[in-house]
Amino acid sequence: MDEWKPNFSLDGRVVLVTGGSRGLGQAMARALAASGATVVLNGRSCGPLEQERDAIRAAGYNADFAAFAVDDAAAAKAGIHEVAKRHGGLYGLVNNAGHQRRHPIEEMTDEAFEDVVAVHLTAAFRLMREAVAIMRANPGGPIGRIVSTSSVTASHGRKNVYPYAAAKSGLEAMARVGAAEFGAEGITCNAIAPGYFLTEINTPLLDDKAFTDWVTGRTPAGRWADPSELGGAVTFLMSPAASYVNGHVLVVDGGMTAVL
Ligand SMILES: NC(=O)c1ccc[n+]([C@@H]2O[C@H](COP(=O)([O-])OP(=O)(O)OC[C@H]3O[C@@H](n4cnc5c(N)ncnc54)[C@H](OP(=O)(O)O)[C@@H]3O)[C@@H](O)[C@H]2O)c1
Repeated sequence: MDEWKPNFSLDGRVVLVTGGSRGLGQAMARALAASGATVVLNGRSCGPLEQERDAIRAAGYNADFAAFAVDDAAAAKAGIHEVAKRHGGLYGLVNNAGHQRRHPIEEMTDEAFEDVVAVHLTAAFRLMREAVAIMRANPGGPIGRIVSTSSVTASHGRKNVYPYAAAKSGLEAMARVGAAEFGAEGITCNAIAPGYFLTEINTPLLDDKAFTDWVTGRTPAGRWADPSELGGAVTFLMSPAASYVNGHVLVVDGGMTAVL
């Protein structure tokens, strides 16, 4: 019975993935493209975006790119509206672009704190605001999916990551506010909280043997995660099958935060 089968297909859906040139954004974009979406990759440098767009197309899927800094308010607003104009609307937004600045509190300057919050949280809010306006005007009526990449540090403290953890908690809170505000319009707003994945942002941690030993020992899976292991979570939250999942934080951490 076809109607019994959950619909995970993203055929014909346009999804903008910020920070889509490498790491988790790249892996999520590949999974979304392989599930039928036309993915629009964002990042600041054209070269890696063009390369990744070509790789996705070479695999037989649909991809485009839009280069802008998410924390440049004017560029981000123009960028997301240009994407919607080019593709006739926007179904999905993955707020994923990010970086990290780790410092003990006495060395964490206002500039560093504000920079991390600007990229992870303020930029995500602005893109969400523009995305909702576009999603409300989608051909065929309002529909949309917003998914933000949070982190296990939103709910579990680690030293030296004040602005990062604060911004990630803010993303999870905004997913709940979005669910309350536009859930009745068929636009859902969720977050994914990854544990420790093998990407560039974690290079300083990977170089620290004591830290990597702690991750493998602390995680029931007994290892770091491969970026491709985020593909299922984002595809689910983006899909028609997740139409009643709203304001949720989906933890993908190999069990790390489930155990003592
Ligand atoms: N890796 C993990 O274990 C982990 C765990 C939890 C959460 N996360 C979160 O997952 C997200 C992706 O992290 P990652 O590990 O994949 O990092 P990554 O490999 O360093 O990739 C970061 C991506 O963001 C883009 N980017 C950075 N600043 C940007 C800006 N201002 N405007 C637009 N694009 C920007 C980068 O491209 P350009 O440099 O070309 O702009 C790149 O595509 C981040 O939000 C991070 O906090 C990661």
